[in-house]
Amino acid sequence: MSNAGADGRVEIDARTFNPYSQDFIRAPDPVWQVLLRDYPIAWHKDLQMWLVNTHELCDRILKDNRFTPNFRAWEFAPPPKPDEQKNDFDLAFEKGFFAVTPQAHLRLRKLTMPAFSRPVMAKIDAKIHDLVTDCFDAIGDAPSFDVYDALASKIPVRSIARMVGVPTDREDFFHDFAVNVIKSTRINLGAKERDAAMQATLPGFAYFREEIARRRAQPEPGNDFLGSLIGASDNGSQLDDYEILSVVFALITAGSDTATDLHTYLLHGLLTHPEQLELLRRRPELMENAIIELLRYGSFGKMPFFRFATEDIEFAGQQIRKGQAVGVNISAAWHDPARWENPNSLDITRKLDGNIVFGTGAHFCIGTYLVRVQGSLMLKTFMERYPNARLAPGQGELDFEWNHHNARRINRLVVDTGLNPARRAA
Ligand code: HEM
Repeated sequence: MSNAGADGRVEIDARTFNPYSQDFIRAPDPVWQVLLRDYPIAWHKDLQMWLVNTHELCDRILKDNRFTPNFRAWEFAPPPKPDEQKNDFDLAFEKGFFAVTPQAHLRLRKLTMPAFSRPVMAKIDAKIHDLVTDCFDAIGDAPSFDVYDALASKIPVRSIARMVGVPTDREDFFHDFAVNVIKSTRINLGAKERDAAMQATLPGFAYFREEIARRRAQPEPGNDFLGSLIGASDNGSQLDDYEILSVVFALITAGSDTATDLHTYLLHGLLTHPEQLELLRRRPELMENAIIELLRYGSFGKMPFFRFATEDIEFAGQQIRKGQAVGVNISAAWHDPARWENPNSLDITRKLDGNIVFGTGAHFCIGTYLVRVQGSLMLKTFMERYPNARLAPGQGELDFEWNHHNARRINRLVVDTGLNPARRAA
């Protein structure tokens, strides 16, 4: 519901958009369509932030440097800890992509570029191939499997571990580290629980600090991901230890939850549209386009991306005050009929130029290569091994993790592999 507030500002509340409502999580599109039609931009009284919904406005705001993702610019940000109380977690966080000034961010992106170059990334392809194969080998000839359990909860964090060069016998250790890093950033956890998770990340940070020190002591730091970060130089400027830790931190926070939903939503989208799955089988060259279209179509993010105004700004006819939070609702934007024809249909041949599935502007996603490698290896292996797969009966009603802080997380998706003897006989 809306009304006009002070200065003629357009206002809504949780009755119009509640990202935690079960109805919304089950079927978000009717809510998005109301937001897109009636509230391109509005002040959300319950969330205490602006909500920007249309494709055009989301695109504009993400490219506008007067809005920063640094939550220290937020009017309600807690005061920073005194320097003497800061631990590795705090120091890595404050040097990270989402916490530094635009200028420092540009430097960070420049210095991390070589680590994300094709030659370095190509080295991880084979390792991720083995990981995906191992996950499918574990499923084997089973008549059915749960996508979340067998693939989505296993591939993303281990892919990051392999990308940053953690030895396979330390992957469980890295997994615990990653789980605690993510927990420490969850705004919907109590302070005590968050603090315990943060303490539990410290052995992981210590592991990487030791590894960085070991590499620095060698004549050459190596030409893998970590070595490229250590060796990178721009006019004599190099990354320090905490900046390198901040990159690992960013990969975990930005790349594990998102890629978990990637696997479930890729398979759910295709198995509920068998004609699109068939098309992909016939035309494997559509794979990359299909992955982006499935992400657009599924739009698993329920919370918007945050920005904070660094000055008073007039934007789309509304007055945004310095320090106010702005939610960039890109999931709604991906279903904007003004931008996408038939936004609610899945079409893996769709022309996706100008999409903002991976953001846009200075903070454009750094992990797109890893998304493509993980997503295409998973889908390719799935199609090869289970040509007759379909969703198991009863999967019309999905199991969501209702309280997930960020995503419309599907935490159980059972697939009938088509290898079930009873089904073959039927
Ligand atoms: C389905 C998977 C993914 C989606 C949909 C996705 C989407 C996005 C989006 C929309 C942004 C921009 C956020 C903003 O402007 O506030 C972003 C940034 C980022 N992503 Fe991804 N991402 C995915 C996977 C990954 C992976 C696998 C990694 C790394 C391993 C990763 C690393 C990052 C990082 C570090 C940033 C911040 C870059 C910066 O601030 O300069 N992402 N991603």
